[in-house]
Amino acid sequence: MRQLLDEAAQGAYGVGAFNVNNMEQIQAIMEAARETKSPAIVQASRGARSYSQDRFLYHLMLAATELYPEIPTVLHLDHGNSVETCKSAIAMGFTSVMMDGSLMPDGKTPSTFEYNARATREVVETAHSKGITVEGEIGCLGGIEDGHGAGLDALSHLTDPDQAVEFVRQTGVDALAIAIGTSHGAYKFTKKPTGETLKMDRLLEIHRRLPNTHLVMHGSSSVPKELQDIINQYGGKLKPTWGVPIEEIQLGIKNGVRKINVDTDNRLAMTGAIRKVFWEKPEEFDPRSYLKPARDAMKKVVAQRMTQFGQAGHAGDYAPISLEEMAKRYQQHLTA
Ligand code: G3H
Ligand code: 13P
Ligand code: ZN
Repeated sequence: MRQLLDEAAQGAYGVGAFNVNNMEQIQAIMEAARETKSPAIVQASRGARSYSQDRFLYHLMLAATELYPEIPTVLHLDHGNSVETCKSAIAMGFTSVMMDGSLMPDGKTPSTFEYNARATREVVETAHSKGITVEGEIGCLGGIEDGHGAGLDALSHLTDPDQAVEFVRQTGVDALAIAIGTSHGAYKFTKKPTGETLKMDRLLEIHRRLPNTHLVMHGSSSVPKELQDIINQYGGKLKPTWGVPIEEIQLGIKNGVRKINVDTDNRLAMTGAIRKVFWEKPEEFDPRSYLKPARDAMKKVVAQRMTQFGQAGHAGDYAPISLEEMAKRYQQHLTA
């Protein structure tokens, strides 16, 4: 991940990080990466790890690297809730972990700065000694529907730039997730947000103070109306909602955002495609008849985001460095 984000910073583009739980989602990402010639970040939450019993997901990832050797691919732990969770992901073969110490291990209660810095530092020490990248988080995202948010309104725990600087200094993280008004899930905003709804000024300030830290935007699904409409057209019941406009993400990318987390848009795309088959062909019962359109719909969204974030065309720019070599580099110059 560190190498992939360094390359993205050099090329001034962003890289989407897409959540996976099963084979179809991994295939969708890898096919989109091949089609657009993009590096890929495949990320799994704790929920995904337990859904797939960990090892299924790991072997699907191995299959992805075997079948798509031309794509630099990261297997990243999304929202690790404790040092133990991060260590278990490292033991399982993840090449990058997020220690989300902005919340206590329950994934809901905002933590103290001291707890966050201590836990994250411990993960950095273990991870870097093995060449593995660490993402930390300072400030809390709003929303709670996926269990990775403080359940507060999205603006009540924005990242404080002074704390961000101190956090990076104390922990030595490679990438930093910041809270600038986004939240997880489909229900982010009740009308189209502007640069004021999202605190882009804060992002600019953090980037000015931490020009060499890769910034991460969570809760970055755009929740496109077309995807909402497909679900509702075929019997779904989504309430009107707005996500993060692509232009705001692109502004972030111009100002230090290198990793952009997207899950909800893919969930919407897959569900819409499945609902359509169920609605139009109620006689179908072969799972492939709806999982294939679902996979195609996700691939389309991922390919579109890869192009919009600017990572398209960059898969062949570099050859992945081994973890052993990364560990040496961390020892020599990267660790704080
Ligand atoms: O931010 C979290 C992702 O959307 C994953 O959610 O915990 O429901 O797998 P999950
Ligand atoms: P969305 O719910 O906006 O897709 O955010 C996903 C995310 O941040 C995963 O960590
Ligand atoms: Zn997230």
